[in-house]
Amino acid sequence: MVNILQFLSEDFTQPSRVNERLGQLLASEIQNPGSKSSEDIGVLNDLKNVVSQSQVSSAVQAESKQFRMTLQELHWLEKHDESSWVDYLIHRYKFRMFPQSQKVSDFPSYLLIEPTSVCNLRCVMCFQIDETFTRDKSAMGLMSWELFTSVVDQAADNGCQAITMASRGEPTLHKRFGEMLHYIKLKGLFDTKINTNATRLNEKLIHDILSSEVSNVTFSLDATTAESYEKIRVGGKFDEVLSNIKMFNRIRATDYLNSVTTTRISGVAVDPDQNPAEMQSFWSEFVDEVTIVPNIQRWDSYNNPRFNRKEVCNILYSRMYVWWDGTCNPCDFDYKSLLQVGNANEQSIADIWKGERYTRYRKLHENMRRSELNPCDRCPL
Ligand SMILES: C[S@@+](CC[C@H](N)C(=O)[O-])C[C@H]1O[C@@H](n2cnc3c(N)ncnc32)[C@H](O)[C@@H]1O
Ligand code: SF4
Repeated sequence: MVNILQFLSEDFTQPSRVNERLGQLLASEIQNPGSKSSEDIGVLNDLKNVVSQSQVSSAVQAESKQFRMTLQELHWLEKHDESSWVDYLIHRYKFRMFPQSQKVSDFPSYLLIEPTSVCNLRCVMCFQIDETFTRDKSAMGLMSWELFTSVVDQAADNGCQAITMASRGEPTLHKRFGEMLHYIKLKGLFDTKINTNATRLNEKLIHDILSSEVSNVTFSLDATTAESYEKIRVGGKFDEVLSNIKMFNRIRATDYLNSVTTTRISGVAVDPDQNPAEMQSFWSEFVDEVTIVPNIQRWDSYNNPRFNRKEVCNILYSRMYVWWDGTCNPCDFDYKSLLQVGNANEQSIADIWKGERYTRYRKLHENMRRSELNPCDRCPL
C-alpha cells in the first residue's frame, strides 16, 4: 500500500474537478437549504468563497485563519458519494474554524464516545497505568445500549457528523462494539473513526468495521519489532497484532473492493530508540498512513508540574467526550473527570455543551485564567 500523503499529493495536484462539482453542489444547497439551521447556512456561504478560489492546503497548514480544504478532506470527498459532500464540509468547517474564533456551535461538531473505560493493555505512557484510576470500581465499566443509542440519536438529529468510538479504554472489549458501528451507519453519520490497540480484532469484527463504512481505523502501536513493541504496549503481542492487521487487509482487499475505510498506524514518541523512518518504511506496507504523535505526559495529569499556559484550548470549542457512564468531559487529559460538564443520562448533549460549567471553563480560558482549573493548569496543549 502507498503512503496516503504521497498518494494524495500526486493525485490532487489538480483538485479542480472536485472543486467545480463542489461549487455546483454548494450553490444548489444555498438556493434550497431545506431544513438547514441558520448556523449551517452561514457556513455554506463561507464555503462557497473557499471553493471558488480553489483553496487547498496541506494538513500542516490547515490551522490558518482562512479555511482551506486539506488534501485529506479532498481525499474524503473522492471516496464518498456526492450526496454527503456538503454536509461533510460544513462539519469540517465548524470543527476547524469555530475554535479559532471561539465560536460555540449549537451542538458539538465532534463527539468521542467511549464504549468502555477498561483496557487489556498497560501501555507505559497511558493513564491506564495509574492504578488510582483503574482500581477505582466506579471509574471502570461498559456503556449501556440505551445510553449509546440515545447519544447517537441526538448526534444524528443535530447534524453532528463525526464520532470517534474510543476514549480512555479499548473499545473492542465491548461485546456490542460491532453492533454500535452498524447503528451509527444506520443513523446516517458519515465520519466515524476508531482507535484500537488491534489485539482483539477478529474476522467478525473486521467485517463489522468494513461493512459499517467506518471512515478511519487507527491502530495504536509504536514499533517494528516484538521487543520494542512489547516494552511499550505492555500486555500486547507484536506477532498477534501484525497478523490481525494483515487479516484486516486481506478481508478489505477480497470482500470490500471499494471500501471507504482508510487505515493508520499511530505511534507515540516515548522511547529514544524508536526510529520514525523505520516505522514509516515497515508499516506503510500494511496501512494507508503512518504517524507518530508527541508523548503527552498524562499518566498522572493531576500531579504533573504546572505549565500555566495562557492560550485558549481549542478542544473546548470543537468536541466533547461521552464516557461509558454518561459522564461528559471536555478532554481525556482529565481522565478522572474533575472537569465533568454533565451527565448524558440526565441532560441532553446540547444542554451540556452550552451549559453553565462548560461556559465557565471557556470564559476562564478566554480571560487567560485557565491556570485556575486543574488539570488545565498542567496540560501542555
Ligand atoms: C488512550 S487510547 C484508547 C484507544 C485504544 N485503546 C488505543 O490504544 O488506540 C487513544 C490513543 O491515545 C494514544 N496515547 C496513549 N497515551 C498517550 C500519550 N501519553 N500521549 C499521546 N497519545 C497517547 C494511544 O496510542 C491511542 O492512539
Ligand atoms: S493506549 Fe490504548 S491500549 Fe494502551 S493502555 Fe492506553 S487505552 Fe490501553
